[in-house]
Amino acid sequence: MKRTHNCGGLRASHIGQTVHLAGWVQTVRDHGGVLFVDLRDRSGIAQIVFRGGKATAQASGRSSVPEALRSGTAQAGQLGLEYVISIEGLVQARPQGTKNPDMATGDIEVEISRLEILNAAQPPPFPVASKGIEASEEIRLKYRYLDLRRQNMTRAMKARHDFLQAVRTFFDREGFWEIETPILAKSTPEGARDFLVPCRQAPGSFYALPQSPQIFKQMLMVSGMEKYYQIARCFRDEDLRADRQPEFTQIDVEMSFAGQQDVIGLMERMLAESLEKAFGVRPGIPFKRLSYEQIMERYQSDKPDLRWPGYERRRLDDIFRGTGFKVFAEALAGGKPIYSLTVPQALAAASRSRLDESVALVMSLGAKGLVWLKLSDGAMESPAAKFFSDAEKQALAASAAKGDVLFICAEEAPLAEKALTALQKRWIEITSQPPAADYVFCWVFGFPLLEYKPEEKRWDATHNPFTAPVQEDMALLDTDPAKIRSQQYDLIMNGVELGGGSIRNHQRSVQEKLFSLMGYSKEIYLDRFGWMLEALDYGAPPHGGIAFGVDRIIAMMLGADSIREVIAFPKTQKGTCLFSGAPTPVEAKQLKELGIKADQKGAQGAG
Ligand code: AMO
Repeated sequence: MKRTHNCGGLRASHIGQTVHLAGWVQTVRDHGGVLFVDLRDRSGIAQIVFRGGKATAQASGRSSVPEALRSGTAQAGQLGLEYVISIEGLVQARPQGTKNPDMATGDIEVEISRLEILNAAQPPPFPVASKGIEASEEIRLKYRYLDLRRQNMTRAMKARHDFLQAVRTFFDREGFWEIETPILAKSTPEGARDFLVPCRQAPGSFYALPQSPQIFKQMLMVSGMEKYYQIARCFRDEDLRADRQPEFTQIDVEMSFAGQQDVIGLMERMLAESLEKAFGVRPGIPFKRLSYEQIMERYQSDKPDLRWPGYERRRLDDIFRGTGFKVFAEALAGGKPIYSLTVPQALAAASRSRLDESVALVMSLGAKGLVWLKLSDGAMESPAAKFFSDAEKQALAASAAKGDVLFICAEEAPLAEKALTALQKRWIEITSQPPAADYVFCWVFGFPLLEYKPEEKRWDATHNPFTAPVQEDMALLDTDPAKIRSQQYDLIMNGVELGGGSIRNHQRSVQEKLFSLMGYSKEIYLDRFGWMLEALDYGAPPHGGIAFGVDRIIAMMLGADSIREVIAFPKTQKGTCLFSGAPTPVEAKQLKELGIKADQKGAQGAG
């Protein structure tokens, strides 16, 4: 089949050339005997014109074209939407007044001389032509192959390809090897539930699909591969949300003889280069860096959206210790912190009704109340001002600038975070304030290594059990585990965690000590991780790495609401593939071979 050009690639420079195109019929318009067809392939659309004549194209599969069409006087009345056709035609300038500046190919049209209908099509269940989404997600996922024909989806697939291609080029140039690790694997401790795969050869035994290639990439460092990366598929059986899928893709990296700054610096360069190539956006490097302590103090969240730097958050406990204002005094006595949010230069917009609306907003989220404060020239206006001492007023005035509005909320950190984030979002809308930058990246480091699980009476890793403690905190392993900081680093962008990694424990003794602190008996940790501990004994080099969520990066860069929009065949919130119907029951014979009895009611009643 001859195809000389892509539809979307035709320009005025092709005028006068005879071209062969192939694609799908996106629209058919009949202008009194002259028929216009928008022919689409993945590169875009070209306008095809059929002029005069009564000859009819036959929907005859791959049969040859009727003679009348060869003469170039075809009428293609039989063409339906999404028919697959191949054409030959002459590229011409569109007549004056009919050019379309919004279309890349809007200067030209192709006057057809020959048409072949390669396949007829049923009318699609939703218009493939529309850029927007007019069908429900359920229908779109059921007919995903049609949904992917839509321009937005095709663009997302292309962007994904371009990005991963750029990533591969970067790593190749930096001396990294792409090495595949097993999908049929053993459970990895990333904190989610495993997807299990039964093994016919060993009834009652299961592989776990990897939650990440973590253990294998560390083994590759022991093997002396030094620099590894993989565009790796990961599987996690966890509750699904807009930014979570049961299977997703990571850019997974591990390096030997590298410290935290080496990994972070290299990854900044990788992202800056790849994002520029794929999206034309080059983030400034180095990225911001904030310690976990700083970020929690300032934002009560380890993934704040930092695009509006004027929207500062502060902890005001010190200002209000010993206050006469009952609400804050009681909150502090009850152990609740007091947080403020500054809305910069918002006096003009801060009408009474908007302030009341803000109070209602945080109360709808569960907060008991909200104090607002307007800081104008030399004065402070607030329903609570009469309860504040002069010293408190002075301290509040010093914490913001004239023209700012302050909101104060006395709630536990997670609720305060939710309330202040919602307020910030609303006030950005009200004041139409543009972000300081479209994308703000920030590394967060210095996380606590361990968190105490009171119900299990043991320490657990806040990230994963292979993360190394900060060197200076090593002594605290025996005395104060809560204070040990980890060599973990997370990358956040616009309020979303894009990736995370760490420097690992490469010495068996430290790793064993951590397993013990985490409440694993020697028997258990040897059973689960003995093979890994043994490997550390055979000359494991110092190493560290990171993994980024590819789906999240693409979704963020394209402004998609959910990572489902950038995955070719995603699962629904319930984990089903609407297109193929998976998961489905299997035949009794298959189960028997595997030695498995299925309980259809399954785990529904189980914890
Ligand atoms: P982590 O568990 O933080 O680290 O995962 C790294 C990144 O993967 C993405 N991600 C997801 N994306 C879509 N759906 C999911 N269910 C999902 N879960 C995670 C996120 C996240 O930041 N082995 C470590 C990395 C390392 O230490 O080297 C790991 O997997 O963007």
